[in-house]
Amino acid sequence: MTQEILVLGATGKTGRRVADALRGAGATVRPASRSSAVRFDWTDRSTWRPALTGVTGAYLIAPHDPADAAPFVELAEEQGVRRLVLLSGRGLDRTPRHVFAGMHAAEDAVRASGLDWTVLRANNFTQNFSEEIWEPEVRAGRLSLPVDDTPEPFVDVRDIADVAVKAFTEDHAGRTYDLSGPAGVTFADAVAKIGARTGRTIELVRLTPEEYRDVLLSYGVSEEEAAELNGMFEGMRKGLLATPADDIARLLGRPATDFDTYVADTWG
Ligand SMILES: NC(=O)c1ccc[n+]([C@@H]2O[C@H](COP(=O)([O-])OP(=O)(O)OC[C@H]3O[C@@H](n4cnc5c(N)ncnc54)[C@H](OP(=O)(O)O)[C@@H]3O)[C@@H](O)[C@H]2O)c1
Repeated sequence: MTQEILVLGATGKTGRRVADALRGAGATVRPASRSSAVRFDWTDRSTWRPALTGVTGAYLIAPHDPADAAPFVELAEEQGVRRLVLLSGRGLDRTPRHVFAGMHAAEDAVRASGLDWTVLRANNFTQNFSEEIWEPEVRAGRLSLPVDDTPEPFVDVRDIADVAVKAFTEDHAGRTYDLSGPAGVTFADAVAKIGARTGRTIELVRLTPEEYRDVLLSYGVSEEEAAELNGMFEGMRKGLLATPADDIARLLGRPATDFDTYVADTWG
């Protein structure tokens, strides 16, 4: 591969792995984020052009502000970018437009562009238990969420990175893929599996949406973001994301990584 690819969110759960996987496939990678050597900040448009100049493709994580999506994609096109791979959320087409508005706008912008684009709509990541939002509570032995016993086919971000490489190295233009794990796992089973592996008890506390909102606000999360997250969990309780998708297996020619493998690899 002779192209240079901009990877946004390069210090995050997917971007870091997308960058590594692309390098492994022979691409030159330009990792970018607010804290990367190539500084990219959605809220500072002066950082956009330097990040885009000279690259042929870009891995995108949606901006928070929907107003940023179209101008960024237009600038990418103007700068000669030919291919965009956008990380999005499973079930976005059944999610109200005010919920994850930045993601809706990003999908609209890449679809409206004249570029080769691929949208990757992912379920909740397995790595949420170990790298981000749920990690501190899991480690403390008590995870509190507005969930019931609807299964969630958590997707391993390593699979997302492998699919992103396919999207940059093969022809997947104009395609939207649903990326999930191979089977649904309830949150109770998920914490039980991590607990069994680590020899600890991890309690799952089932919150009401109102209780969850209050917890999020106490962490400093905005009212708007709390409503978005509550909207996502409501969709999950209705089973909107519960059915496993087979796109990972079809694209990679191997099964998606299951939750037990994630637990063994991560919590060993
Ligand atoms: N977590 C899930 O289960 C899930 C499921 C489906 C879709 N998604 C979507 O995935 C995306 C997040 O991807 P991720 O989990 O790979 O990332 P992440 O682990 O949440 O990390 C966020 C990345 O974005 C960068 N960043 C934060 N604010 C920024 C800004 N203002 N401008 C530029 N970069 C910024 C961060 O680096 P710096 O701090 O250095 O800037 C970091 O690299 C979101 O759009 C989320 O909705 C998540």
